[in-house]
Amino acid sequence: MADCCTPRKKLCWCVLLFFLVAGITGGAIGIYKWHYSGLNRWHGAGSTADFQKIIQERCDTYTQTIRPGSRSRNCQAIRQAFMSAFISKDPCKATKEDYNSLINLAPPTVPCGQQVFWSKTKELAHEYAKRRRLMTLEDTLLGYLADGLRWCGEPGSSDLNIWSCPDWRKDCRTNYLSVFWEVLSERFAESACNTVRVVLNGSLENAFDSMSTFGRVEAPNLRPQVELEAWLVHDTGKPPSDSCSGSSIRKLKSILDGRNVKFRCMDNLSRDQFLQRS
Ligand SMILES: *[C@@H]1O[C@H](CO)[C@@H](O)[C@H](O)[C@H]1NC(C)=O
Ligand SMILES: *[C@@H]1O[C@H](CO)[C@@H](O)[C@H](O)[C@H]1NC(C)=O
Repeated sequence: MADCCTPRKKLCWCVLLFFLVAGITGGAIGIYKWHYSGLNRWHGAGSTADFQKIIQERCDTYTQTIRPGSRSRNCQAIRQAFMSAFISKDPCKATKEDYNSLINLAPPTVPCGQQVFWSKTKELAHEYAKRRRLMTLEDTLLGYLADGLRWCGEPGSSDLNIWSCPDWRKDCRTNYLSVFWEVLSERFAESACNTVRVVLNGSLENAFDSMSTFGRVEAPNLRPQVELEAWLVHDTGKPPSDSCSGSSIRKLKSILDGRNVKFRCMDNLSRDQFLQRS
């Protein structure tokens, strides 16, 4: 007993106690900060669970099964470039340059005349592209990898934030998800040549929406001399709500005229009629 109270032992206990208290306090502060000011602070849903694994698996599937003819891509390098584009970075300070090395590994370019753009007709456009062996953005490697996923990082951390990610409206436009689709769409549109198509939703009052990705990013980045065919397709069994002579399509035409892009427009087609023609 007396042994415990030698000055040397006393000092030991004090030091031990100090570290214990410091550890608990530090841990509690850490958890508090993490919970209230940290990973939960954004308004959008967090990163997709198993993001890296999904990217790797989709990349293997795409390069081995979906487009085995496509130039052999290094899926590990693609996954790493994807991660380093946003990991450890402020999730509201995304720039197009952040994605340069990723996009250079797998540019979303497709053979001339095979592009299909879409706006508010995702499922239909994909069905159409599949039947006609054409390509939407989601049929390019990077579009396929990222379709439906969410991701963001956190400064000072090498992990994805699975708790929350910035919302486009409530937090910031320059988030990594929005900027990714913007730069990928831009490159996709820039590479279009000959005649390309856009599938628009004729069941909406404004089949062309100038705030959509197609309206903001793709149409304004088509190159001169490209010809764009717009297809206004409405839900089967309902009358169309917009037509080629409507004001929304006139707006699209004026954007294209400004870029010297040729334009043709087809309307009054139901989903079934459109797919049957294909
Ligand atoms: C048009 O948009 C509506 C509402 O978003 C959707 O329910 C419908 O499936 C779309 N139609 C086509 C042909 O994609
Ligand atoms: C749309 O097509 C239907 C037949 O599919 C036709 O009866 C109708 O007159 C057409 N409407 C317009 C405005 O062209």
